[in-house]
Amino acid sequence: MRIARVLITRDQIARRVEELGHRIAADLLASGAGEPGVEPRVVLIPILTGSLVFAADLIRHMPVQMSIRPVTISSYPGTSTTSQGATIEGGLPTDLAGRHVLIVDDILDSGRTLGLLRRVIEAQRPASLRIAVLLNKHKPQGRDEHVEVEYSGFHIADEFVVGYGLDYDGLWRNLPDIGVLDGVGGKGEGPGV
Ligand code: IMP
Ligand code: MG
Repeated sequence: MRIARVLITRDQIARRVEELGHRIAADLLASGAGEPGVEPRVVLIPILTGSLVFAADLIRHMPVQMSIRPVTISSYPGTSTTSQGATIEGGLPTDLAGRHVLIVDDILDSGRTLGLLRRVIEAQRPASLRIAVLLNKHKPQGRDEHVEVEYSGFHIADEFVVGYGLDYDGLWRNLPDIGVLDGVGGKGEGPGV
C-alpha cells in the first residue's frame, strides 16, 4: 500500500498548529484560565491514539499552565474506515467539575467520538469546555451526531486520510504529512474510481 497523494504537507500542518495553539491559549487566558498558579486549572484531554502527534505539537504553542489527561476511545478497529460507534476504553478523568477543559482530537468525522466525550464531560459541569480538532471532515449527508467544535485546523473532503497521528489498520501514524492511501475508503474506494 502506498500514499496516492499528499493532502496537507508537514509545513502547512506546522504553521496551522502554531496558529491554533496561540489562538486557543489567548482565548483561555482571556477567560481567566491558564495563568500559572491560578485555579481552576486547564485540563487538556487528548484522545488516544490519533491525536498523539497533534497534541504533542499543539501544547508546545500554548503558553498556559495545564495538566494533560489522555483518554482512550476506540471507534473502528482494523481495516474498517467508517465509525462503528465509540467506546471509552480508559483514562476518563472524573474530577473535571469547575475546571477549564480542552478536548483535542485528530479528526471530526461521524461525530460519535466527540459527541460521546462532550456529553460525558459536560455532565461533570466543567467551568468551560472547548474542542480542538486538526481536521474537520465535510459530510455532505450530515454527521451521525452533531458536535460543536470550537477550533478546526483544516476542513477536508469526505475521504480517508492517514499520517500525523491518523492510522489505517494501526499503521501510518508516523507519516509527517497527511495523505490519502491508494484504494482505501472515502470517495476513492473501489475499482475504477
Ligand atoms: P468519528 O467518526 O467522528 O467518531 O471519528 C472517530 C475517529 O475515527 C477519529 O478520532 C479518528 O481516529 C478516526 N478517523 C475518522 N476519519 C478518519 C480518517 O480519515 N483517517 C483515519 N482515522 C479517521
Ligand atoms: Mg481517534
